[in-house]
Amino acid sequence: MCGIVGYIGNEKASDVILKGLERLEYRGYDSCGITYYDPKQKTFITNKDRGRVLKLLNSYKYPDDNHFAIGHTRWATHGVANQNNSHPHFSQSQRFVIVHNGVIDNHKELVFKYLNNYEFVSDTDTEVIANLVEEFSHKLSIEEAIRKTISLLEGSFAFLIIDTENIDTLYAVKNKSPLLIGESKNGIVLGSDVLAFINYAESYYLLEDNSFIIIKRNNGDFSFKIMDTIGFELEKPEKHKMDFVTDEIGKAGYEHYMLKEISEQPAVIRKIMSQYMVGNELKVSPKITNMFEGIKKVYILAAGTSYHAGLIGRVYFEEIAKIPAEVFIASEFAYNEPLIEPNSLFVLISQSGETADIRSCLLNVKEHGFKTLTITNVSSSTLAREADNYLNIFAGTEIAVASTKAYVGQIAVLAILANTLSKQHSLDLVSEMSRAAVSMENIIDKRDYISEVVGCSIKSHDCFYIGRGLDYFVCLEAALKLKEITYMNTMGIAAGELKHGTMALIEKDVPVIAIISQEHINNNTRSNLEEAKAREATPLIISLENTSKGNDDIVLMDVHRLLSPLVTVIPAQLIAYYKAVELDYDVDKPRNLAKSATVE
Ligand code: AGP
Ligand code: GLU
Repeated sequence: MCGIVGYIGNEKASDVILKGLERLEYRGYDSCGITYYDPKQKTFITNKDRGRVLKLLNSYKYPDDNHFAIGHTRWATHGVANQNNSHPHFSQSQRFVIVHNGVIDNHKELVFKYLNNYEFVSDTDTEVIANLVEEFSHKLSIEEAIRKTISLLEGSFAFLIIDTENIDTLYAVKNKSPLLIGESKNGIVLGSDVLAFINYAESYYLLEDNSFIIIKRNNGDFSFKIMDTIGFELEKPEKHKMDFVTDEIGKAGYEHYMLKEISEQPAVIRKIMSQYMVGNELKVSPKITNMFEGIKKVYILAAGTSYHAGLIGRVYFEEIAKIPAEVFIASEFAYNEPLIEPNSLFVLISQSGETADIRSCLLNVKEHGFKTLTITNVSSSTLAREADNYLNIFAGTEIAVASTKAYVGQIAVLAILANTLSKQHSLDLVSEMSRAAVSMENIIDKRDYISEVVGCSIKSHDCFYIGRGLDYFVCLEAALKLKEITYMNTMGIAAGELKHGTMALIEKDVPVIAIISQEHINNNTRSNLEEAKAREATPLIISLENTSKGNDDIVLMDVHRLLSPLVTVIPAQLIAYYKAVELDYDVDKPRNLAKSATVE
């Protein structure tokens, strides 16, 4: 997780780092830090602490002539979030400074074997890297010391390291955690995401695993070379132009990114439609459909919200395309693989395209020769590059940690994929999706009403969502949204399962929210809600016009049964949002979480 940025160039380096870190804060934000070279004092200065980047900006002065720096926003894996554990970290003699994204799995063994005489000042695994480089530098050149260190490290890591005795060189290493290089006439910037380069790079390069990069300042010029970990120089990868729309990453007048992103969902559906329109139909390209020839089973792998989209995707593969499909939580699949059918294809769903749990599955299934297709929001991401093919969800940059527009984008693209693969009875997706976009808009326009519902009905610390079939899958997502930004104890339950145990938790005033969009289970879910009401729960019903009865609380404009998740999820997202606002929590950056989970 976490974000790292490094810079060597003509600009004020602390500006590049702090602006970059602010843009990367979505990746981790429990602490942050910066080390820069101050030419007047002829020394490196480090500011770091628990908390947000704003603190680094406001609490310190940075000299105008600082042109070399590294920075970090942390998502703690080893050691609590405090000043001591914040990055950058120094080697024992203070010669080497490092920022690191990832986890060193064998850090304890490495200390035991090589660093017995070293004193560690933090609880992080990161400090081991700095000390190993220091230890090996006694007998080897710095480059060789870093290479030897890399050869010993197990785990996922992208790190930047400075040798304080050399103010013209920055070293960087990438393995499994993301790292990119940005370039302009004015200097070279490194970062975990291209967002960090906005305004500071004209083009950028994506790096492969096991890359060792050396960036140098040379008589006012800046250059970098990429080597493998043995020391062979590699060809520079393809150069990409920075083509970011800066509007996309602002809040556009909304109080929070999450509300902005919820509101963008109808537009995301329309964007997807425009991108996948072929003649009068919504289709994926033959390059993708050809992959499915002879395929007997589809395995969907994903995590969190994307997993919830995958559950709906399974229904699409089976009901629309008539291809048997199974969905797995990637972190489970990675270590408890089921018996896989020989003619199978793997669909990996990931908003960021960087989730480490999914990547480890991808590498494994590729090794076994299976075809792989990524569905992602980031076409330059690792999972997009490493799978055989990818489909873009065109949701635009999603900044809020709680994913919203990516979820509906994933579902829409899964529907288009399954529908293209369907040999008969395919859906008229153009009209059905247009209708869904209008229905989404209707409920977003009535969001003040949802905020009132939250004020009146969601008062306990517990909350349960119940539903059946597709509604159940939306309940899982609804519960995840509520728990991640309000810290409420929330569960999504298959309505029929309530009586098999969870009913024991239902007591007076606990909200039980039923999602009912499927006519064939309408009465069953309502009966389950009655059972909860009999235990004095506060009931709430989200239904569609054609499944609504009496005084349902939130009634949504009708949409096709299979596309109902695109719409029923919206009141649930808004419930989570307004509850978090009411509780005065940091909606876009909930505690303990990060947008992109790049550690397993
Ligand atoms: C969703 O609100 C969460 N932030 C989280 O569950 C997320 O969906 C999960 O980490 C997967 O991320 P990905 O889609 O980028 O792979
Ligand atoms: N493992 C390191 C730590 O806990 C880096 C974590 C990160 O990627 O932020 O400090």
